[in-house]
Amino acid sequence: MTAHPRDALKAWFLGPQAENAELLERLVVESLRDHVFWRRNYHPEDGVAIREIDKRQEGYEEAVGALTQGLMGLLAELKRDVPFFSGRYKGHMIGEQTLASQIGYFATMLYNPNNIALEISPVTTRLELEVAEQLARMIGYDPARHWGHLTSGGTIANFEALWLARGVRYLPVAAAGAAADLGLGLWVRLPTGGTAPLAELPLWELLNITNEMALDLWDRLWQSAPRADVRQALANHSLAAIGYQEYSRRLALDYGDPLPAGVVLVAATAHYSWEKIARALGIGSNQLLHVPVDGRFRMDPDALWDQVRGLAHRRQPILALVSVCGSTEESAVDRLDQVLQVRARAETDLGTTFHLHSDACYGGYAAAVLRRADGTRRSAVEIRELAGGDWPSDDWAQAIGALSQADSVTVDPHKMGYVPYAAGAILVRDGRARHLVATDPPYLSPVDRAETGTEQFLGRYILEGSKPGASAASVWLSHKVIPPDERGYGYLVERTVAGARRLHAALTAADLSPFRVITLPLPDINIVCYLLCHPSLTTLGAVNEFNERVYARLSLARSDQAPEYIVTRTRLRSPAYDGAIGPILDSLGVASLEEWKTSGTDGLVVLRSTVMDPFLAAESPASDHIGGLLGALRRAGAAALAPEEGFTRRS
Ligand SMILES: Cc1ncc(COP(=O)(O)O)c(C=O)c1O
Repeated sequence: MTAHPRDALKAWFLGPQAENAELLERLVVESLRDHVFWRRNYHPEDGVAIREIDKRQEGYEEAVGALTQGLMGLLAELKRDVPFFSGRYKGHMIGEQTLASQIGYFATMLYNPNNIALEISPVTTRLELEVAEQLARMIGYDPARHWGHLTSGGTIANFEALWLARGVRYLPVAAAGAAADLGLGLWVRLPTGGTAPLAELPLWELLNITNEMALDLWDRLWQSAPRADVRQALANHSLAAIGYQEYSRRLALDYGDPLPAGVVLVAATAHYSWEKIARALGIGSNQLLHVPVDGRFRMDPDALWDQVRGLAHRRQPILALVSVCGSTEESAVDRLDQVLQVRARAETDLGTTFHLHSDACYGGYAAAVLRRADGTRRSAVEIRELAGGDWPSDDWAQAIGALSQADSVTVDPHKMGYVPYAAGAILVRDGRARHLVATDPPYLSPVDRAETGTEQFLGRYILEGSKPGASAASVWLSHKVIPPDERGYGYLVERTVAGARRLHAALTAADLSPFRVITLPLPDINIVCYLLCHPSLTTLGAVNEFNERVYARLSLARSDQAPEYIVTRTRLRSPAYDGAIGPILDSLGVASLEEWKTSGTDGLVVLRSTVMDPFLAAESPASDHIGGLLGALRRAGAAALAPEEGFTRRS
């Protein structure tokens, strides 16, 4: 490493007051001029389609007028948009975008490549695969085995992860049927050790083959018979071809063993999109089972073990387990290392296994903290010594380091990668899994696998169709300037963690009398949750209503105000948060655990501030946004309590 990233950070963003405006303008103009140059030199002999004389026609001038006027209107409207760039924005998981990503997007947008296929994105498909490889290295995947690509966001990336996971889980069933049709005798290794002939396995055991063994089986099947025959045999037996309705009927008939419906275990903190995904995949949201969290909002490994054991005893297949790295509400990082231990124990002791996915859509870039430029891993002690603080803990480093062992990981560049929407990413540890969802369209089929590089024909393996090459270029250029390791994103994440810890300490110590601030535990990354309380508020309902009002004053929810600071809020509900709520209720002192449990959907309203501002923990910040937020909270509290608001304190 040469220069310290501390100085480079100042060149990474446009800046809250557009301090780097000249730089951005120069690069925008450069990109535009270069594009114009490209067009003018592309077959100049073709001649012009729009002549100077055409530009003097009334219709032309009217169209230019409409464009200019329309743009002015749009620019005026956009001033009512959300000031994500400002230190006053402490709301959702979005901050400023990196200059590199903005320029990368702008420059490429002029070319408008479509990353569905190489023939309409010869440059940016390559960039997309490079980016996926960089992210895979960041989390510690073996670049030779992994596969990954960008998506429009976390929801789609997670959808694909579960789509693949389910494909792998049911693969041995399809392989057993296909092998029987083809007259092949295949053997498979069981999670408990030992091997068995595929044809003799009962349904329960077929659904509990490890991912690696299932994919080996896949390879062997293709090697054992002509491709067309294998394709047909698999289509006769795969869930993807047959669909749930017929498939369940067939399994019951073929195996005489109608197993209960397969479930997906998710951390109680999982993003709500998992419910959408379970519904869309036909798994059903009733099959989504929540694993309780501990006092730090992390999946409780003991509770997980109990759940897995219970399911194994009922012989209920687990399609996948979704652990979270950076929960949406609190940025909690599950102890993935311990979750992996639970799975290993389930395999040996219970003969049950499942796909392990980490939803690191928010927290994935935290893995850059652990990564050196040469790809090796830094230890927590080393990081603490260098930064001179008590963060990160050894446990944190182990949990983040364990991402390399998850079967799939989703990471959103459009969250902590600070790039424009839409940019999510899915990474799969064993890239062979992608073949399970491959589809070939007639009009985009590559002529020859070896010559055209099918592997770069993304549309074949992904859920989405047309997709912006500009997004890939945007992430690629951002990674070029801010590498996904300790020199770049690692430093950026560290800064935001420092900012969040400073904010947490200030809120915990704040004297906002007559109000009291109750902080939730120190976050694992950079989302700080807290609530305000006042002696006159004596019920959970009253505290909730009051905090809703504080939030309304510090958000863009009300159109009649320009809030001093912007925060967001969420609701912690029972039973998902039962494991974490005790100490918070104790500090609050208005409701018992039992009352909370019966509060139903009301739960507890907490204010939530995502700290993506890299300057909040600066040595001498231009503005004291921590003091500013505290003052704004006190004023919002006083206004929220005012009688003219019709506030009912004992509601
Ligand atoms: C942990 C987590 N997973 C998934 C998502 C969904 O991401 P997206 O909004 O990009 O679809 C979010 C969004 O906040 C999230 O926090």
